[in-house]
Order: sequence, then structure tokens, then C-alpha cells
Amino acid sequence: MTPLAELNLRTARLHLRPLAAGDEADLFAIFGDPQVMRYWSTPPWGGLDDAAAMIERDRQALAGRGDLRLGLVPHTGDAAGRVVGTVSVFRIDASNRRAEIGYALARAQQGRGLMHEALQALVAAAFDHTPGAPFDDLALHRLEADADPRNAASCRTLERLGFLREGLLRERWQVGGELSDSAWYGLLRPDWLAAQAGAAAQPAG
Ligand SMILES: CC(C)(COP(=O)(O)OP(=O)(O)OC[C@H]1O[C@@H](n2cnc3c(N)ncnc32)[C@H](O)[C@@H]1OP(=O)(O)O)[C@@H](O)C(=O)NCCC(=O)NCCS
Repeated sequence: MTPLAELNLRTARLHLRPLAAGDEADLFAIFGDPQVMRYWSTPPWGGLDDAAAMIERDRQALAGRGDLRLGLVPHTGDAAGRVVGTVSVFRIDASNRRAEIGYALARAQQGRGLMHEALQALVAAAFDHTPGAPFDDLALHRLEADADPRNAASCRTLERLGFLREGLLRERWQVGGELSDSAWYGLLRPDWLAAQAGAAAQPAG
């Protein structure tokens, strides 16, 4: 069981790490952007205080093995070393071995498959039951996600990972006076493992 506060994941283009003091401006650039927040469950942030509050909430949650959020930090390019997005595992229900995932990416980084790369690493870690894996104590069986059905990029991101759209929850959110529906997605661990095994067995090229 890796302490969540020490969890670091690496992909070809990204380092995923817990948020830390100093990330405030990068986080505000994401969560203060009305376009990024168009289909989010809260309005855009008002200032850097919101970022500081997120970092502090995360610090406490990680220490208590509560919700997990990791910042996405590119290895190279203009944004190297900066937090350009976040992924999270939250609403962890240990007795039912399930949790929800959430994610957001700065506008300038969208459209390059970065979130797919980050979520592949996150889902693999979440479903890893090997002793010593970050979530080995939970032995998660199911991941869930909630996307506004109008948020085509988010729905596509989930579907590309193998999430199935299981239903539509009508007028579930009210953000900034606007009611919106939830497309409800689920991914089962056996299906994830089968898809990974199938992908590994594909001939290269
Ligand atoms: C959703 C989000 C994380 C996707 O990340 P990304 O790295 O830009 O995603 P990708 O570049 O892999 O694009 C995802 C897919 O959606 C498709 N797509 C993107 N914009 C689209 C649009 N407007 N209409 C239809 N499809 C779209 C892409 O073609 C891609 O499909 P593919 O996998 O078949 O190639 C990112 O857009 C984001 O952060 N949005 C704002 C925050 C948000 O909505 N978070 C999710 C809340 S549920």
C-alpha cells in the first residue's frame, strides 16, 4: 500500500503527482477558465484562494487515505514542470469496492490525447490488486464517471478507456442556474484486464 501522499505515476509524456504549494497559479489557469469549466459540477474559480484551498484539502485527504487527486506535469514542451491538469479518484466506497474518477485539462493542452494517457495510468493503478499497489487495500472492482452528455470530448475519453454508458440521470446538476443531465459511465475491472490483455496480444504495426 503506497501512501497516497507519495504516489507518483509516469507515462510517456507526463508525471502524475500530488498537488503541492506553488501549484496555485497553474491550478487557477485550469479551474478559473470558463471554457474548461463549461460542464464541470461547480462554477469557475474566482481566484488563487480556491487553488490554495484545493491543495490544503488534498493534503488532508491524502494523509487520511481519502480522495486522491494527482496533477499532470508534462516532461517536455512549453509547459514542462507545470501542472496542466488533474485526475482524481473520489467517492471511494470501500465496502462495495468502487470509486468515481474525475479529470480536467488546461485548454492549451487539449486535443492531443493527454488525458487518455493520464487516465490509462490512473485506472491501471486503481485496479492493481498486487500487494504494495496504491489501492491494494481496496481491491477496487468498479470505477464510475459522470459526464454531461453534451461534453463530447469527455464522453469520448471515457469510451476510449472502455467505460460503458449505463444510463442517463436527468437534471442531476444545477450549476450557475443551469440544470444539466449526467451520462453515467461504469468500467468493471475484469473488462479492463481483458481489454489490456487483448491490446498486449495485438501484433505490432
Ligand atoms: C475532457 C478532456 C479531459 C479530454 O482531454 P483531451 O486530452 O483533450 O482528450 P483527447 O485529445 O484524447 O480527445 C478526446 C476525444 O474526444 C474527441 N473530441 C474532442 N473534442 C470533441 C468535440 N468537440 N466533439 C466531438 N469529439 C471531440 C477527440 O477527437 C478524441 O476522440 P478520439 O479518442 O476518438 O481521438 C478535456 O477536453 C477537458 O479537460 N475538458 C474540460 C474539463 C472536463 O470537461 N472534464 C470532464 C468533466 S466530466
